[in-house]
Amino acid sequence: MTEQSFELGAPELREVLTEGDLTIEGRLIDASNTTLYAVVTRGPVSLTCVYKPIAGERPLWDFPDGTLAGREVGAYLVSEATGWDVVPPTVMRDGPLGPGACQLWIEIDEDADLLALLHSDHPGLRRLAVFDAVVNNADRKGGHLLPTPGGHVYGVDHGVCFATEEKLRTVLWQWRGTLLPDDALDTLAALRVDLAGDLGVQLCELLTTREVTATRRRVDRLLREGRFPEPGDGWPAVPWPPF
Ligand SMILES: Nc1ncnc2c1ncn2[C@@H]1O[C@H](COP(=O)(O)OP(=O)(O)O)[C@@H](O)[C@H]1O
Ligand SMILES: [Mg+2]
Repeated sequence: MTEQSFELGAPELREVLTEGDLTIEGRLIDASNTTLYAVVTRGPVSLTCVYKPIAGERPLWDFPDGTLAGREVGAYLVSEATGWDVVPPTVMRDGPLGPGACQLWIEIDEDADLLALLHSDHPGLRRLAVFDAVVNNADRKGGHLLPTPGGHVYGVDHGVCFATEEKLRTVLWQWRGTLLPDDALDTLAALRVDLAGDLGVQLCELLTTREVTATRRRVDRLLREGRFPEPGDGWPAVPWPPF
């Protein structure tokens, strides 16, 4: 996050990300799609961001409908609805390479021990594990976790979420089968209400109706079972490579 962005709340950040002039500065080399490092400027505010144009998306056999960008923005909307702030502000907008997802760049804590964090009981990471179960994240690698100097953990790269079949694939299985904390149950109950209302409507513009219905069902199931999911059969439960 740039210095200016610390003073801005999520609505202002979204506004700058959506309305600002976007200039591409470079390409992220370890990315699997056209994933660009960019700057958005609006008046006195400049923010660094990741711009993922839809035109640069590689087709995926197991995600034939919709776009990676739509799922990135959908994941952000779910994160916002939970109030957990697990996904950096992400918007859909036009850009030099056409419409795409634009996400605030997060400066990570370079000294953070990612391996230790990965296996820890960090409450933010636990919330991220619940979030992944909700959005059915098929690719939660270690490199998609961004620890900030302030001790917060963001998750990125949500292009392969929201499948209708179970596809949870993650490095965060340390809570599998254990009881969901009460605060997570409260948040999921509120999310269920949101999904039946405005959030559901917004998601239907980004995902297929079946994907939104499946998201509601996953929340219902988490509430009914009251436990973190366990690895399923017939689908590799851990991403490879894990980072
Ligand atoms: N919002 C962000 N802030 C900081 N770093 C990011 C952000 N988004 C992605 N990255 C970094 O760039 C890498 C590639 O981005 P990713 O979203 O995984 O692209 P792709 O969809 O092409 O795989 C990530 O692993 C992460 O290190
Ligand atoms: Mg990636």
